[in-house]
Amino acid sequence: MTGGLRVIVTGGAGFIGSNLISWLLRHPAIGRITVVDDLSTGSTSLLGGDLADVDFRRGSVLDEGLLDAAMAGADAVVHLAALPSVPRSVADPVTTHHVNATGTLQVLEATRRADGPLVVAASSSSVYGAQPVLPKVETSRAMPLSPYAVSKLATEAYLGAYHACYGLPVLPLTFFNVYGPRQRAGHPYAAVVPVWIDAALSGQPVTVHGDGTQTRDLTCVDTVCEVITTAITGRVVSQWPVNLALGTRTSLLDLAGLLGEILGTGLRVEHGPPRPGDVAHSQAAPARLLELFPGTRAVPLREGLERTVAWHRQTRSDTRSYTDAGGSR
Ligand SMILES: NC(=O)c1ccc[n+]([C@@H]2O[C@H](COP(=O)([O-])OP(=O)(O)OC[C@H]3O[C@@H](n4cnc5c(N)ncnc54)[C@H](O)[C@@H]3O)[C@@H](O)[C@H]2O)c1
Repeated sequence: MTGGLRVIVTGGAGFIGSNLISWLLRHPAIGRITVVDDLSTGSTSLLGGDLADVDFRRGSVLDEGLLDAAMAGADAVVHLAALPSVPRSVADPVTTHHVNATGTLQVLEATRRADGPLVVAASSSSVYGAQPVLPKVETSRAMPLSPYAVSKLATEAYLGAYHACYGLPVLPLTFFNVYGPRQRAGHPYAAVVPVWIDAALSGQPVTVHGDGTQTRDLTCVDTVCEVITTAITGRVVSQWPVNLALGTRTSLLDLAGLLGEILGTGLRVEHGPPRPGDVAHSQAAPARLLELFPGTRAVPLREGLERTVAWHRQTRSDTRSYTDAGGSR
């Protein structure tokens, strides 16, 4: 690839990052893409054939030398690398802080040493925590309930501060519950949508923590990728965080019902105790998003979940045919 914008994606081998790479590779304004990822939660397998079209650098965002080398000549940095889990942060708050908060600081420092590319970074709706106002407005006070949420508050606050102090062009985006193809189950910190689909396809019951009336603003990964791609190509800047969700509200019980319909088998729901650090209700006020990105399109939940279920079915059948072909391994 020659010409076009030079983009760095940290965490590009993760769920959102690998989807974003596919979007960016299809966009005519994008030139070279460099991925920085230490593969701690991601996998190059998620990039599939796209791996050959990116400059993949395995390593941590805590490695200054690696960041400096990757950033030379960059027009934009999309900073997605993080340990993205509330329970993981409750179990090990210090590591979450290092990767998520210090990692963001290192990325910003490297950007400052480079020629000030646009920095788009992922924050999380968990920053709102115990804030009772619904829908969540960016101007309401953050009330984090977990070390993960604190690390994400640091992420968005550092971006704002680097804009104020050094004039860096920044865009902190507050993701809500993002779901879609390439979001994997099968690890202890997996998100609810892949865990439930995987359990149902294996004939297992799904666990609802608490009574299931808690609500989430489920956002299809395509919406997230579309907004970030527009941000890069249109060089959209905001000192203050922007919610990246469209203000929908789905209870966990309704999600279970819809997934059961799509799978055609229903979902067997079991209730477990509520998890520490989890928030009761999460719904974005999308006004700031729609002001900056007027064309943002919500993917209907059923459509997004159907594509997600299809990806899980395909992945399971690919794995089965590989195992069948290769015998016992
Ligand atoms: N998925 C969601 O619903 C959601 C919601 C809110 C915020 N976010 C944020 O979006 C971003 C992407 O999340 P995701 O769901 O794709 O998670 P993911 O775990 O699939 O991706 C994170 C990627 O970062 C990489 N990584 C972790 N530590 C690293 C380090 N020190 N150096 C370099 N790479 C490192 C991982 O290997 C992985 O590829 C994260 O910042 C997360 O906090 C996600």
